[in-house]
Amino acid sequence: MSAEPAPAAAAPEPEQAPGPEPPAGGGEAAEHRALVLTGFGGYEKLKVQARRGAGPRPGEVSVSVRACGLNFADVMARQGLYDRMPPLPFCPGMECAGTVRAVGEGVRDRQVGDKVMVLARSGLWQEVVNVPASQTFSMPEGMSFEEAAALLVNYITAYMILFDFGNLRPNQSVLIHMAAGGVGTAAIQLCKTVENVTIFGTASASKHDSLKESGVAHPIDYRTMDYAEEVRKISPKGVDIVLDPLGGSDTTKAFNLLKPMGKVITYGAANLITGQKKNLMAMAKTWWNQFSINALQLLQQNKAVCGYHLGYMHEEVELLRSVVAKLVNLYSQGKIKPKIDSVWPFDQVAEAMRQMQEKKNVGKVILVPEAPKEESKKAEN
Ligand SMILES: NC(=O)c1ccc[n+]([C@@H]2O[C@H](COP(=O)([O-])OP(=O)(O)OC[C@H]3O[C@@H](n4cnc5c(N)ncnc54)[C@H](OP(=O)(O)O)[C@@H]3O)[C@@H](O)[C@H]2O)c1
Repeated sequence: MSAEPAPAAAAPEPEQAPGPEPPAGGGEAAEHRALVLTGFGGYEKLKVQARRGAGPRPGEVSVSVRACGLNFADVMARQGLYDRMPPLPFCPGMECAGTVRAVGEGVRDRQVGDKVMVLARSGLWQEVVNVPASQTFSMPEGMSFEEAAALLVNYITAYMILFDFGNLRPNQSVLIHMAAGGVGTAAIQLCKTVENVTIFGTASASKHDSLKESGVAHPIDYRTMDYAEEVRKISPKGVDIVLDPLGGSDTTKAFNLLKPMGKVITYGAANLITGQKKNLMAMAKTWWNQFSINALQLLQQNKAVCGYHLGYMHEEVELLRSVVAKLVNLYSQGKIKPKIDSVWPFDQVAEAMRQMQEKKNVGKVILVPEAPKEESKKAEN
């Protein structure tokens, strides 16, 4: 399932961005368009504005951005529910892909014209970004900019939770929540690289055909049935691994669904999101229902509880590089391929966010600085 193509609307005249300017690095300051979060709240808080940037500082590269990834964390950030962001107003965006247009002093491993993927805590939803060269990764041969903008956050996360924490092995079973979304799709593809893994996946009912096609043996509509009961009908002992992006009472349900030696990896709090704006009741409920266990109870259970947050991993350059190298290898072998749900120009960021928040996306939602050409706007699924 996929969204209708975004109509190619003319980009509105950009306002002058009030936010902090990118640090000056010499050279003539040129104007470019950026998405800026002007306040916490609904979709209208994101605006296209003009920014003036300079050249890259020592150790940095300047990148002409061709595509950016939209993440669930950006939806949370818009509502003021994500703690790894600079003060307002700021430019969001944790991942993008593009071409190196200038190289700062001391940068040896990047050249003008290189196609790169970029990972950062924020600031990448712009036409031009200056970033430390260490935060860029070479795009593999044959990869489109949209795919490159969909790889880093979703696949690094899925890889590390499944393999580093989950230690997924042949013949095991995995429950993947939000299975048709960005991380979910990546996790399914990575599960398929291991022999005979049984995948349970929760998603809205309209996405179940797509889930079956991608290898989910048991799609479950969490909106109309109790997913834990459904899992137990098929596998009375439960599963080996639960990937938990929901938080609150769902972490407890995940823990209870584990077989002996099973692992729950908690990596999100999607239960906080119920509408366009922050919902204090949902926050209180999620907090009140937080999973909690002490060491003695844990050792009697023969289970593991892990927590994962890529936003606290940015200093771990070598670790991230080793994961990205494995992902690029898997891509080059045809074993993984980012699934693009839809592509939206910057000035339709509200529609892009709505696509995700209204639970319509199957795969990754992508933003591009310019309105894409009619025929390439909506990626084929
Ligand atoms: N810890 C980390 O480092 C890390 C990194 C990346 C992502 N994450 C987490 O992983 C999860 C998935 O992220 P993503 O970026 O790949 O997003 P995504 O899965 O593409 O998110 C959109 C989908 O989530 C499902 N969903 C479930 N509860 C929802 C809710 N309350 N509101 C809206 N949609 C909801 C909907 O599909 P269905 O209804 O079909 O399920 C929707 O289409 C998020 O919880 C995110 O915070 C964590």
